[in-house]
Amino acid sequence: MHLQKTTLPLLLLCLSCAAWAQTGITLRQAAQGKFHVGVAINTSQIEAADAKEDRIITQQFDSISPENALKWERLHAKPGVYDFALADRYVDYGTKHHLYTVGHTLVWHSQVPDWVFESTPGKPITRAALLERLHDHIFAVVGRYKGRIQAWDVVNEALNDDGSLRDSKWRQILGDDYIVQAFRWAQEADPQAELGYNDYSLENPKKLAGAIAIVKKLQTAGVKISYVGIQGHDHLDWPSNSDETQTIEAFARLGVKVAITELDIDVLPSAWGHSADVSLKHTADAKLNPYPKALPEDVSRQLTQRYADLFRIYAEHRQSVERVTLWGLSDRDSWLNNWPVVGRTSYPLLFDRKGDPKPALLAVEDVLQK
Ligand code: XIL
Repeated sequence: MHLQKTTLPLLLLCLSCAAWAQTGITLRQAAQGKFHVGVAINTSQIEAADAKEDRIITQQFDSISPENALKWERLHAKPGVYDFALADRYVDYGTKHHLYTVGHTLVWHSQVPDWVFESTPGKPITRAALLERLHDHIFAVVGRYKGRIQAWDVVNEALNDDGSLRDSKWRQILGDDYIVQAFRWAQEADPQAELGYNDYSLENPKKLAGAIAIVKKLQTAGVKISYVGIQGHDHLDWPSNSDETQTIEAFARLGVKVAITELDIDVLPSAWGHSADVSLKHTADAKLNPYPKALPEDVSRQLTQRYADLFRIYAEHRQSVERVTLWGLSDRDSWLNNWPVVGRTSYPLLFDRKGDPKPALLAVEDVLQK
């Protein structure tokens, strides 16, 4: 075929907007003026290793979260030794593409090395020494990205399901006030950053009450809390639309924003309820992995409907909801392929295993444009 001089650049341009052409409008365009739409990215996506994925991230989303790159064990695996190499690339990616860049997370009971809580191996550290370590970590990390990370999940998953405080090592050694202390230092380290409390199952009334108590405690102490992160590890049958609505409205009444921080919708059977506790483990069983080849049409339709319903609720509450972030780009990337059962085939996101848009993406765009 003979290509005219002008045809080749046009062809290249079209290839680069293939994802856009398929859906007509991008997710970020559809959500413009309502809220940020974000995606959690993994190491290879931070490194822009795959051109198609890179295109989807930068065309469809206007915000990123680091799936693992900024967790304590990645940044600060040994006492006094920080490794910012990957985190720097993550933040550079956000800056380069003008994305609302999220930090996840400063204080969590998981993916934090044992040494943090020990003076010598096996021997617990004193309260004063742990406070010093926490102070050092927050100032080193938040300080380094001051002005470049727009929002920090300061404390992650501090609550039990019954709304009481989780008895993590943070709480055992520092006492209940560790949450206020962490927010206070994060605020000092970057006064402009938005600061959030992040957790799962907040749609359950007891846990919601616990989160409300945390927000009120921070507010009473005069410490900034900008948003509550509702993780959004949802299922086809949980949470109900009305629970989701009531949860968002409960936080809005406190004068804080809501971010949906880790949205995915699990379509696979669950033998452990709806919890997103990372410590859950379940042995592999064919019954728990019913769609190893492809998602049946009727389940795909349910997933699409569920995404549409949730985004309708978020859009109705756009005064309060400032961001909706998907926990992974495509079904291939999702943590739900390996948690809490290793080796399942999951379908929780808006792009399929090949990185192509699913009907749910089109339904979400449709809802957002109404
Ligand atoms: C998950 C990551 O997706 C996995 O890659 C990792 O192995 C474990 O953590 N709640 C959170 C996230 O706040 O940080 C978790 O991310 C998922 C549950």
